Amino acid sequence: MSARRSHIVILAFFLGVLGCSSGTGGATGQGGASSNGGTEGRGGAAGTGGVTVSGGATVSGGATVSGGATGSGGVTASGGRVSGGTTSPGGATAAGGRTGSGGAGGASGAGGTSGVGGAAGNGCPAGVAGATTGTINNTGPWNDTTGKHIQAHGGGLIKVCDTWYWFGEDKTLNTNGTGNFHAISCYASKDLATWEHRNSVVTTSTDPVLNNVNLIIERPKVIYNASTKLYVMWAHWDMESCSGASGGYCDSEAVVFTSPTVDGNYTYVKHFLPGGNASRDCNLWQEPDGTAYFISTGAQGQTSSGTFSQTQVYQLSSDYLNVTNTTKIWANDTREAYAFWKVNGNYYGVSSGQTGWAPNQAAYLTSTGSITGPWNNSFTGLGPNGSTWSSQPTYVIPIVGSQTTTYIYASDIWNSSNLSLSTYLWLPFTFDGTKWSLTNSATWSINLATGVVTTN
Ligand code: GAL
Repeated sequence: MSARRSHIVILAFFLGVLGCSSGTGGATGQGGASSNGGTEGRGGAAGTGGVTVSGGATVSGGATVSGGATGSGGVTASGGRVSGGTTSPGGATAAGGRTGSGGAGGASGAGGTSGVGGAAGNGCPAGVAGATTGTINNTGPWNDTTGKHIQAHGGGLIKVCDTWYWFGEDKTLNTNGTGNFHAISCYASKDLATWEHRNSVVTTSTDPVLNNVNLIIERPKVIYNASTKLYVMWAHWDMESCSGASGGYCDSEAVVFTSPTVDGNYTYVKHFLPGGNASRDCNLWQEPDGTAYFISTGAQGQTSSGTFSQTQVYQLSSDYLNVTNTTKIWANDTREAYAFWKVNGNYYGVSSGQTGWAPNQAAYLTSTGSITGPWNNSFTGLGPNGSTWSSQPTYVIPIVGSQTTTYIYASDIWNSSNLSLSTYLWLPFTFDGTKWSLTNSATWSINLATGVVTTN
């Protein structure tokens, strides 16, 4: 009996996936189903290698696909370098022979093997897939996983592996309009919506100098120093009253803490006047090459009885514990609560006016040079209603996805008569090619793999 030759086409493709910067790998790819007999399968087509992203170590992609009885096997796909991510799809089902007479059909195309996580980048565990969707509910409740109100006011975020850590002021005990220091809290989430309280990372017991009823610590921000392997926190240090000075916020300094683990107990380093300048609302900025900056409102000699009319950008020393001589003043007006983002080499800084706990219109500045400027000194309002929906900026969260990067305006809605009840407003920025804007949204979602926002 003459055998009719048929063909089996096996298409195997293997995708390394773009994941978080954490270095976790995709899950095992699924193999294709077995095909039915044709005498001669043709080998699978070459698998497409994964996309190269920063972070994890190179991983191998799918295994060689074997074809039909006489067909040659598929070409091995080389996996992309991954730094985390979602499931790598396996090889497609091999198509069976046309007639089925003759020899046995080609075996199923073997699926891609697991993308082994990029363990290298920053010691992230391999093989853990991150969450894919985050839904932000601005109407609340902004509760943690135990049902308690999230206490992370004036906060900042840092992503480590597949987890976001949210640091902020714990104002549980501030049940009136006075915000004396009790603790800095740290929450963790993989989806930006489900927050587990991890630790009170700085408390009044952290160091004797923090055991002071007059103390105020606000707006903590954390970055990681790859050379010292320490997480470094900067915040605003102040006093409710000072001898020889009238009114609250009479000290106006910066404070620094460090910890070898992101959510561990931080160690007090020092409080001081950066560059000799008074220093209030503050933030940190870190470039991909590790160069970092402390940005704060205040200038030499400014005190609580006057205005705080300048913003300084201080380059940090390589250990992030000091400011260097590099100081830049870009806005000679009365702003505070700056938070930054950078797109295609352009820098943007959103800030508020200075009206205490009362909200005002947030606006942003642009620098086409660097974080140190030159800034255009021309503020563009964000939000149409005069108070940015009663919020004040605190941080801009970049969500780097495979299709787009979304920048989230993270802000506080202060309750000035009971600060412990203060809540939050998180909104995605939109950009029309020229101008950034915000649109209020009670609930919205973001695909954390692609970066694409869905407004409900
Ligand atoms: C705001 C500042 C807050 C807090 C408040 C106290 O201007 O942004 O972080 O310091 O004043 O009134």
